[in-house]
Amino acid sequence: MTTPTAPTATPDHIMGVYNRAPLAVERGLGARLWDDKGQAYLDCVAGIATNGLGHCHPRLVEALKTQADKLWHVSNIFRIPGQEELAGRLTDATFADVVFFTNSGTEAIECALKTARKYHTANGSPERVEIFGFDGSFHGRSYAAINAAGNPGYVEGFGPRLPGYTQLKWGDYEGIEAAIANPTTAAIIVEPVQGEGGARAMSEADLDQLRAWTREHGVLLIYDEVQSGMGRTGKLFAHDWASDAAPDIMCVAKALGGGFPVGACLASAEAAKGMTVGVHGSTFGGNPLAMAVALAAFDEISKEETLANVREVGGYFVQQLNGLKDRFPDIIVDIRGKGFLIGIKLVPVNREFMGLARDQHLLVAGGGDNCVRLLPPLNLTIEEAREAIEKLEKTCEAARAKAAAA
Ligand SMILES: Cc1ncc(COP(=O)(O)O)c(C=O)c1O
Repeated sequence: MTTPTAPTATPDHIMGVYNRAPLAVERGLGARLWDDKGQAYLDCVAGIATNGLGHCHPRLVEALKTQADKLWHVSNIFRIPGQEELAGRLTDATFADVVFFTNSGTEAIECALKTARKYHTANGSPERVEIFGFDGSFHGRSYAAINAAGNPGYVEGFGPRLPGYTQLKWGDYEGIEAAIANPTTAAIIVEPVQGEGGARAMSEADLDQLRAWTREHGVLLIYDEVQSGMGRTGKLFAHDWASDAAPDIMCVAKALGGGFPVGACLASAEAAKGMTVGVHGSTFGGNPLAMAVALAAFDEISKEETLANVREVGGYFVQQLNGLKDRFPDIIVDIRGKGFLIGIKLVPVNREFMGLARDQHLLVAGGGDNCVRLLPPLNLTIEEAREAIEKLEKTCEAARAKAAAA
């Protein structure tokens, strides 16, 4: 038997899985964050699309404080009125008839994949188990989620791949149609706009096509709108931009709770028909604190003025960023994404660029395909957007100077 070698303790005693920026964040308000030295930063990360209404939105703070005085937690063996209220809001606004509440996006994905396979069993086709995902996607870190996304960096070293998960190539229509026509296929899972993959948006026509093929072949369509949903693209959900592409199952999280941990798996009554008493559950999922905050967040985010702001300020960003791309072709090679899920594909290494942006007191997120992502709060003002562009311009200048000095 081999004994594991003594672990190298990290000085902070935190498991070393995060590539953290050297910034200790203490306080936040709106799109502004302050570090432990009192330095202010413009936050275009927003908890990676999670603080949809910025930090400490007064309505969310009020909802949390009021609920904290009433009831924190109660088991799901009792009715939880806040769940019923939020489920009502979500089903009224979407294709869905039922909702399962979770604490995270990954758990919503887990529920979606289980719901899909269970549907086919309940439907008399237990052989339908194959799940097809897409290259470049990200669905979370559970075994099912990493296998559905198939990113080698996330699956390697964790033992054998789970059976029944395959990735399709974005744009390989022949391969996609063949996978859907396969008689053992259970579901297709897709992010309408890939987040971690570098803000890659599937075209509206492609979403409509995917829906048409899955409908024709009795395959369930699952959307992962954990990052692209809750107003991020300027509509409540990214697939709302397409004309006839409503899914059978959809995962939501991140901005759903505006920073409080909550996720949801939404499904049509038909797709959820296998999810009967006892087949799934959660201790904390949908607890009263989470529901109170999420209800307040939903009401703010679903306002037309919030969504219109994302479309308008998002349009300004794209126009200005394309201007920067023209002036700094040695730094920026592409601008992509939708609304406030914006990807800037770079020449310099994205991590270096993020550091240079931080020097300008601007926080941006990394992304696949050597992108940085701008994921500001949905209520970012045009003045704050202007400030972000000015800081990005200085960041491009600094990146150019650094390349020249190398
Ligand atoms: C598209 C997508 N799906 C799923 C997840 C996983 O969500 P969580 O980290 O809340 O488990 C993420 C997280 O970044 C995501 O962006």
